[in-house]
Amino acid sequence: MILTVVGARPQFVKAAVVSRALARAGVEERIVHTGQHYDHGMSRVFFEEMEIPEPEVNLGVGSGSHARTTAAMLAGLEREIEARKPRWVLVYGDTNSTLAGALAAAKLNVPLAHVEAGLRSFNRRMPEEINRIVADHVADLLLCPSAAAARQLEREGITRGVHVVGDVMVDAVLHYAGRAVPCPLPGEFALATVHRAENTDDPARLATLLETLGSLDLPVVLPLHPRAREAMARVGLAAAGRLQLIEPLSYLQMLGYLQACAFVLTDSGGLQKEAYVLGKRCITLREETEWTELVELDANRVVGVDPRAIRDAIPWARRPLGERTWVYGDGRAGEAVAALLCGMRTGAWS
Ligand code: UD1
Repeated sequence: MILTVVGARPQFVKAAVVSRALARAGVEERIVHTGQHYDHGMSRVFFEEMEIPEPEVNLGVGSGSHARTTAAMLAGLEREIEARKPRWVLVYGDTNSTLAGALAAAKLNVPLAHVEAGLRSFNRRMPEEINRIVADHVADLLLCPSAAAARQLEREGITRGVHVVGDVMVDAVLHYAGRAVPCPLPGEFALATVHRAENTDDPARLATLLETLGSLDLPVVLPLHPRAREAMARVGLAAAGRLQLIEPLSYLQMLGYLQACAFVLTDSGGLQKEAYVLGKRCITLREETEWTELVELDANRVVGVDPRAIRDAIPWARRPLGERTWVYGDGRAGEAVAALLCGMRTGAWS
């Protein structure tokens, strides 16, 4: 039996793909939800529309400081792993739920598999970077989205159990694109998201960013993450100019908005790839990206939050994106993950 740990929005998307592949391969899976994300629009709706198996348990950890929430997850996960004695613990990505799942499994000597291994921003001020490094260094099976990620692990001395399987988020876009909810907005617009602590937790930076988004020469639609909503409320910030704030979107709605938009502006990791798969250019509102292949392909520009740099990138972003390269696999990463977890060493795309 495989015990899967999820807790935050991007993990639901990744788990949807792998859970389906595990079920097809006849592998028994139990899902534990840490409760890191708990609003209907941040959690439940993903399970419903992506048909993710119901979690066996929700640890209900909720919001709080990194230490308090991670500690609560650790205690809950230790209990679940000890009670269920899984063959593998499976964690995804870089959130605090990933960190807790990885540590709990490693301390109990239960084999750990990490999907999205080997990614680095080389910015240790990001909590996500710490989470990735720890997870990779205690994992037994490291499932990399790209060859560059595997090379990074090698540089860190990790060579055993490393497999390039492609990116499960690409599988998700390809699988669900045909079921996208059509975007209700008429006319040209850009799609933006903002949720990273580095952008939301500094009021001056957030204010500049929102002001810039509102001052572009087309409407910008921003589905608001609760972290950004709270940060705005704390310092009394509101949308201005052509910036339109909307509630968080479900996955199928997000695909519809991505298909309809002119281009994307984001500090999310997942959206950078989703934009590319759906043929949109992306302006990344961070100082660095883990997905450097997209920069090399001239599909992504990493500009930070400098107003001038954002404005200067707009004509580039409007240009159609030509032929795409399947740099993160061809949509069969989930199958490759399932095959490796079953002990078969086949199915990887490289
Ligand atoms: C987390 C992940 C990040 C991932 C992102 C996707 C960490 C360190 N970061 O960031 O890697 O890209 O999820 O969304 O794990 N909140 C609600 N309702 C919810 C969820 C959150 O109101 O359903 C609020 C809480 O007040 C919380 C804040 O949003 O304090 C931020 O949530 P948190 O889980 O700390 O991190 P994210 O910014 O979502």
